[in-house]
This record gives sequence, C-alpha cells and structure tokens, in this order.
Amino acid sequence: MTDARMTLRAMPFVFEPSNEHWNPGHWNAARPEFSQVVNSASLAMPFLEPYLIRSMRAARGQITDPVLQAEVDLYIRQEAAHYKQHQLFNETLRSAGYTCIDAIEKQLAADYSKLEKERSLRFNLAYAEGFEAMALAIGQMLIEDRVHLFGDSKPAVASLVLWHFVEEIEHKSVAYDVLHQAWAKLFRDNPAGAAKLDTARLAEPVPVPS
Ligand SMILES: [Fe+2]
Ligand SMILES: [Fe+2]
Repeated sequence: MTDARMTLRAMPFVFEPSNEHWNPGHWNAARPEFSQVVNSASLAMPFLEPYLIRSMRAARGQITDPVLQAEVDLYIRQEAAHYKQHQLFNETLRSAGYTCIDAIEKQLAADYSKLEKERSLRFNLAYAEGFEAMALAIGQMLIEDRVHLFGDSKPAVASLVLWHFVEEIEHKSVAYDVLHQAWAKLFRDNPAGAAKLDTARLAEPVPVPS
C-alpha cells in the first residue's frame, strides 16, 4: 500500500497535421510569441525527459522507501508519456517547415548524452531536482493564467501543455526526495568515493556558450 502523490492520465491529442488551416507554429494566433516559447520548450522534451528518466531509474536501486519507489515508477511513466506526446507535436512543427529543428535536436541529444556520461549521478539527480523545482513554478503560472495564455488557441496544444504541467506540479517533491535518499545511501556505502566524486567537478569552470 502506498501513498504516492501522482496520477497517471492517458491523454490523447490530435495535432491535425493534415489540416490546411492548422498552423502549428502559431497555434495561439493572438499570442504568437507565447506560441514560439512553448514550441521551443517542446523541442527539448524528447531529450530532457528521457535523461530525467534515466537518472531517476539509476537512483531507484538506492531507495528503500516503498512510497518513494512507487513515486519514482509513476514519475517515469508520466515523463515517458509527456515526451512521446511532445514528439508528435514536434513532428508537426518539422512538417510545417521549421528547418532549424534537425540541428537543435542534434545539439540537445549531444548535450544530454554528455551530461549523462561525464557527470556524477548526484549531479544528474540535482539537475532533475532543479528542473522539477522550475517546472513547479512554471506549471503554477500556466494554470493560474490559462485563460490569458491559452484562451481561443488550438485546443490540442493548449491541452498538451496544461496536461503536462498539471502532472509536473505532482513532481514537486519526488526528485528532491530521490536526490537526498539516494545520495545519503551512496555516501553511507562509500563516503570517501562519494565525496571525491562530488567535489572533483567543483573546480571545473562552467563553459559559457559563445
Ligand atoms: Fe514532464
Ligand atoms: Fe517532471
């Protein structure tokens, strides 16, 4: 028996790629700038969310609390559903003629692969925790201002974004709890190795994009 604080929702969306009046770039005709903010964020989801899933999956074996284990499982299933829907939406953007998408996706894949290969599990869990904290604030804003931001827009995209962020709000503590429980276990098992792994990166300069 668990007290998991998440719900898995099956949400089908139809992005109408064959409809000549469907403009995926400006799915909210009254707010084209907001449309493009959402579009750019959507491009990251099929790369960011699988990376979050892999980090949480890697940490699951360090967790003994059955409630948190159940939450990790639900988290993984929710994030998997999210990025699959974003893939479908992103395909409509690609089909609409946004030729920059291939290069952006290539860069996103390389960036998250690099983080996963070169950074510690603690770093990757902290990244997940930081992302979820940000998503909580964004989700609250999107839902509170949903009429202003999504009113009269294409229902499929509005539903995709609001569904996604309703579930993101449910992630408000799971990544934080995983980071702390998994790291506590790693540190108990091998304090010298864990400390070395953690501090080895602190002296590295943070690369600044040119
Ligand atoms: Fe998500
Ligand atoms: Fe999330």
